Amino acid sequence: MKQSRYNSKIIGCGMYVPEDVLTNSDLCKMVDTSDEWIITRTGISERRISKEDVFTSDVATKAALAAIGNAKITPNDIDIIIVATVTPDMYCPSVSCIVQKNINARGASAFDLNAACTGFIYGITVADQFLRNEVYKNALIIGADCLSKITEYKDKKTCVLFGDGAGAVILQARENCESKIVDSLLGAEGSKGENLTVLGLRKDEMELKKRITNNCNTIWMNGSEVFKFAVNSMVYSVQKLLKKIGKSIDEISYIIPHQANQRIIDGACKKLNYKSEKMFSNVQKYGNMSTASIPVAFYEALNEGKIKNGDLVILTGFGGGLTWGSVALII
Ligand code: ACO
Repeated sequence: MKQSRYNSKIIGCGMYVPEDVLTNSDLCKMVDTSDEWIITRTGISERRISKEDVFTSDVATKAALAAIGNAKITPNDIDIIIVATVTPDMYCPSVSCIVQKNINARGASAFDLNAACTGFIYGITVADQFLRNEVYKNALIIGADCLSKITEYKDKKTCVLFGDGAGAVILQARENCESKIVDSLLGAEGSKGENLTVLGLRKDEMELKKRITNNCNTIWMNGSEVFKFAVNSMVYSVQKLLKKIGKSIDEISYIIPHQANQRIIDGACKKLNYKSEKMFSNVQKYGNMSTASIPVAFYEALNEGKIKNGDLVILTGFGGGLTWGSVALII
C-alpha cells in the first residue's frame, strides 16, 4: 500500500434490522424443509424480514443515522456516501442518493457499489483511497440489503438462507493514527458468475429456466459451487493479506467473516488453522444479509466487547460476481 501521512479510522458504527422474524418453523410451513436440516446445513435459526413497503434505502438510512450518532458527527460533516447493495430500491436514483436526501448530508457525493456480499469490503477499500489521498475527510459506508424482496419462497434451496438488514461505519482521515485500516485485498472471478444470479434488464431464457417458478426477479444459486468458492476464496484472501501486511494468523485478534453459512465459517477457520472462538458468527439469528452481514457483525463484535482498541482484526467476504476481499484494520 502506498504510504501516506493520513490513515482511515473507523470513528463510529451502527446497524439496523427489521423487527419481523422469520423462523425455521415458519419456513417449514412454506417449503418441504425441517428445522434440523436448516440448522445442521447452515447454522441459521431465524432471519429478519422487511415489511412490504420498506426498502433498502429505509434500512440503510436507519443504520447510517445510528453510525453518525455513534461517531458524534453531523450529516453535514460527511463528504462521501457509498452504499454497497444488490437490492437497490430503483436503478436510479441510487440508494446512496436517497440516503443522502434522507439524512440531509447536502455536501456529500454519493454512489452505489455492487460487489454482492463482498460489497462492504469493496466499499471500505474505495473510501480508504479517498481518505488516505486527502480528497475527503469523512466517509459513510453502508452495507444494506433486503434479500427477502428477491427470494423465491417456493425454492427450499435458497429461501432458508436469506434475511434483511443494514450496517454502517464512518471512516475519518486521521494523521499518523494507530487505529486505522491497515491494508486490503480485493478480487473477482467473473468466469464463475453464472453460479449466483439475479436478473436485471436481460431476461436470459436459460436463466429463467433455472428458476422453479420462472420468476425473473429472484436469486438463483448453485449452492455447492458457491460453497466451495466461499471457503477457498476466504482462506486465499486472508492468507494473501497476512503476507502483504507481514503478520501471521496467530497475531490476528479476531476474524469477522461474511455470514452466509456456519459450515463455510467453520471450514475456512479449519483451513486457516485459526481459533474457532475468535471467528465471529451471528448467522444463527440473521441468516445471510448479503452486504449488511459484515458491518452488522462488526457492530456486534465491538458492542459485545469481542474486539477492542488496539486489536488487529480481519474482515473477510465473498459473494456474487463472484467476488472476494479482505480488510485488515487496527481497532
Ligand atoms: N431443506 C431440506 N432439504 C434441502 C433443502 C432445505 N432447505 N435445501 C436443499 N435440500 C436438499 C436438496 O434437495 C438435496 O437433496 P437430494 O440429495 O435428494 O437431491 C440435499 O438437500 C443436498 O443438497 P445440497 O444443495 O447438496 O446441500 P448442501 O449441503 O450443499 O447445502 C446450501 C445447501 C446450504 C445452499 C449450501 O450449499 C450453501 O450454503 N452454499 C453457499 C451459499 C452461499 O454462501 N451463498 C453466499 C452468497 S449469497 C449472495 O452473494 C447474495
